Amino acid sequence: MAVGIFDSGLGGLTVLEAAQKRLPDVDFLYFGDNARAPYGVRDAEDVYQLTKSAVADMWDKGCDLVILACNTASAAALRRMQEGGLPAGKRVLGVFVPLIEALTERQWGDNSPPREVEVKHVALFATPATVASRAFQRELAFRAIGVDVEAQACGGVVDAIEDGDMILAEALVRSHVDALKRKMPHPEAAILGCTHYPLMEQTFQEALGPDVKVFSQGSLVADSLADYLQRHPNMYGNGGGGFFTTGNPGRVSDRATQFLRREITFQAA
Ligand code: DGL
Repeated sequence: MAVGIFDSGLGGLTVLEAAQKRLPDVDFLYFGDNARAPYGVRDAEDVYQLTKSAVADMWDKGCDLVILACNTASAAALRRMQEGGLPAGKRVLGVFVPLIEALTERQWGDNSPPREVEVKHVALFATPATVASRAFQRELAFRAIGVDVEAQACGGVVDAIEDGDMILAEALVRSHVDALKRKMPHPEAAILGCTHYPLMEQTFQEALGPDVKVFSQGSLVADSLADYLQRHPNMYGNGGGGFFTTGNPGRVSDRATQFLRREITFQAA
């Protein structure tokens, strides 16, 4: 069955887009919990419960493998779901690790001890819940030493994108980059630690300046998914894909079509 891509809303489309380009023969089932977005202002328990119930719905729709294409859900729910035990034959993966492996110059799944890496000053842009979880710093500490991370909780950006108000989203991104630069004037790298933010990547890059390397998750997650599917061919998605939302399918389809610049039709989850 199709590989599931989950997000609180539209952000996971940035992962879906890259995954479809990288794996054109795989069918994907996208699930956006748009009725309950944004997750990034909720507490960890709430995010866990919402993620668990959406993923259960995706399993019921036939997905065996679900990617949490949402950093907020990955931070609050992934480990807990995996440790709590998954139904037989079902798997759930997150989006942090491929990004951190790229930042720390590692091959996928390289679990060797932490070591010094090229970048020393990293700016992290993420939702308030992801920043509060410190999950990014925890995963980074397993792989790298001596990296200084300054995190900026980007309140309001996800709401603006979900509402299609890109002028507001742009203004908010610029003000969050300014706030980050006051704390860390010269980051060498910036992590877009929310899957909505690649929709604003150009604004982040402009505001940060050309010397800052911006990491976003789409292609990194797509490459690591390709590697995973090669190692687990039984998870290869065929048939049963589509786009599902808990929100208003017409409205969500319009936004998705605008972002991906191709016709996307959501149906009610
Ligand atoms: N795309 C989600 C993420 O990567 C957005 C979370 C939200 O709904 O606030 O964190």
